[in-house]
Amino acid sequence: MNKGPDHNNKIVRMFSVSKRYGDMDALRDLTIDIWRNEFLFVTGPSGAGKSTMIKLLYMGETVSAGAILVDGVNLSRVTRKQIPQFRRKLGVIFQNFKLISTKTVFQNVALVLEVAGINGRDMQYRVSEILERVGIEDRAGEYPPVLSGGEQQRVAVARAMVGNPKIILADEPTGSLDPESADQIFGLLQSAHKSGATVIIATHDQQMISNHKGRTIRLVNGRMVNC
Ligand SMILES: Nc1ncnc2c1ncn2[C@@H]1O[C@H](COP(=O)(O)OP(=O)(O)O)[C@@H](O)[C@H]1O
Ligand SMILES: [Mg+2]
Repeated sequence: MNKGPDHNNKIVRMFSVSKRYGDMDALRDLTIDIWRNEFLFVTGPSGAGKSTMIKLLYMGETVSAGAILVDGVNLSRVTRKQIPQFRRKLGVIFQNFKLISTKTVFQNVALVLEVAGINGRDMQYRVSEILERVGIEDRAGEYPPVLSGGEQQRVAVARAMVGNPKIILADEPTGSLDPESADQIFGLLQSAHKSGATVIIATHDQQMISNHKGRTIRLVNGRMVNC
């Protein structure tokens, strides 16, 4: 049951985090706590550091300075070999979907469970259920390239949600979608939140943010500024 953000319980803690690329500071001294079951928007202009923040959280990059705790795990202690195991806590969604074009919709979603050792009827049931939840069950046997952008993103959301992750990270999830598809994706992310997930969305989509009741943080030049 969703009881809203649990303010005694921090699922993400970032302590004075900086990320440099050469002489470019993509993030500067970012300190933030994110509550369990919070629904957080990260906004700001292009180049502000939004994607960098998301990448650090899924260990697509490592910090240049500072520390990050995710669900009690200090990311500096996670070895390369341990990253797949760590990522089971997460569902990640990107602007360009990142589906595997040579696998069907069903197989794209099933893969998440298979690598977690869930096979057979349990896997089949869970994949069918999530495809139905995102409204794409009738396309289960198709390959991603024949689907519309909105449909592909629904598959990506299904893939992000099927393992029942504690945290959903989305980087510009509606960035390449028409307004109607964007609304559907936002609705699905809200439903994941209602089911108990912590949802963190990087976006510059002001329309989506204006419909949002929770917290929004704003990055400018790699720094958090007041909204
Ligand atoms: N892999 C990289 N190599 C060099 N510079 C990068 C890299 N990734 C991001 N940057 C730079 O870091 C800054 C923040 O980028 P990013 O996090 O993608 O911003 P946003 O998502 O808010 O548009 C930008 O100036 C960008 O050019
Ligand atoms: Mg970005």
